[in-house]
Amino acid sequence: MGHPVLYRARYILNPTRERRVTCIYDGALTVDSAGRIQALGEATQLQQRFPHAIVRDFGPRSLLLPGFVDVHTHLPQYQAIAIDSGELLPWLHTLIFPLEARFADPEFAEQQAELFFQAALRCGTTTLMVFGPPFAEATSQAFAAAARIGLRVLMGQTLMDTNVPPELRIRTEDAPQALEKLLAQWHGYDYGRLLYAVSPRFAGSCSLELLRLCADIAHRYELPVQTHLAESLPEIRWIAGQFPHFPTYTAIYDAAGLLTSRTILAHCLYLSPSEQAQLRSAGCAIAHCPRSNVFLRSGIMPLRCYLDLGLRIGLGSDIGAGYSPFILEEARYAREMAKLRSFIAPEETPTEISPEEALWLATLGGAQALGLDSSIGSFESGKDADFIVMDLATLEPQHPLRTDPESLLMRLLYTATPAAIQRVFVRGRQLFPPEP
Ligand code: GUN
Ligand code: ZN
Repeated sequence: MGHPVLYRARYILNPTRERRVTCIYDGALTVDSAGRIQALGEATQLQQRFPHAIVRDFGPRSLLLPGFVDVHTHLPQYQAIAIDSGELLPWLHTLIFPLEARFADPEFAEQQAELFFQAALRCGTTTLMVFGPPFAEATSQAFAAAARIGLRVLMGQTLMDTNVPPELRIRTEDAPQALEKLLAQWHGYDYGRLLYAVSPRFAGSCSLELLRLCADIAHRYELPVQTHLAESLPEIRWIAGQFPHFPTYTAIYDAAGLLTSRTILAHCLYLSPSEQAQLRSAGCAIAHCPRSNVFLRSGIMPLRCYLDLGLRIGLGSDIGAGYSPFILEEARYAREMAKLRSFIAPEETPTEISPEEALWLATLGGAQALGLDSSIGSFESGKDADFIVMDLATLEPQHPLRTDPESLLMRLLYTATPAAIQRVFVRGRQLFPPEP
């Protein structure tokens, strides 16, 4: 074994299981040669404890924190960023489906996968759960890009067979073979850095037969599952018409066998109390995507209620309805939208979340939602060293009035931009900026 590396920074922020954030001034993180965290503490103490460690000091403007976890995004929608095509259903039909169809072209698919993952990396994301292209070959190309770049990715081919243009449909009889080929190629790659996630788009574009098949495969291979649920009111009305024999949207996924503790459901803005209880008892997680919810005019999720119910929740950039991969901005919106929720649902007060909870959602909360919190999401010995270094000098205001840890966290949450991201590491390996 080689010498450990001791990373030293002016501040280290670390989220805890209690949804708090601890702050270490002049801190250090030691990482072994396998990329695992050995210890976290004050730099002078760790330097005494690890006298042979190779020291890498990020300097007086540095802030170190766990890499951001994006629990819901769409690779083939990168070019849809910042294009307004109305609410969810028209947006899907006029902008998204034609764009996703372009992934039949391997050259376009290759180029877009690279752009998408590099953009996420520049924004400090180290783990992402991704809806891939609607074609097996393009999904494999996307996995190859993630493998090369070094990110931690859970991804699957976006599966659809109903209400979408014919070129986007998969035949149910072809789906098992296509999935098993991708699984064999990529699931578990690089000691589990890449995982295959079964990805039926939503009940609006999948037959019950396809949803069932997805559930069966996920069950057989113990795979993560992702889909969308209860995102907008017109969507819910439309789905009710498509599935008239089901009492609720959630009941469709339940009947298909898709509600498991490995399932991540995006949005969930409009769930009845009984649907919330159903998700809670099945152990499903929710991807909260507040920027997307505003952009598509979908609404405001009752985040505080869901957290208090004990639902697992992470943040999703939901590109291209969300307009950047920067999860810290998603955390900012999560907090601001939770405040706005009190205007539309005064009976729910308090609706707010704390700044600490916002940062927790962007890191450890996301890791818990993905079932990966034993290896990522915070700095604990034995976890993988997925972390980012930010430049405090990019935050506003310069020369701040208050310099205590809570004020630092607030400045970070409200004023950081992607320009603050200086370095990104996964398993102790620097991915950004790339090293020769
Ligand atoms: N519901 C079904 N597909 C999608 C999608 O691509 N984006 C969003 N935001 N919602 C969806
Ligand atoms: Zn989505």
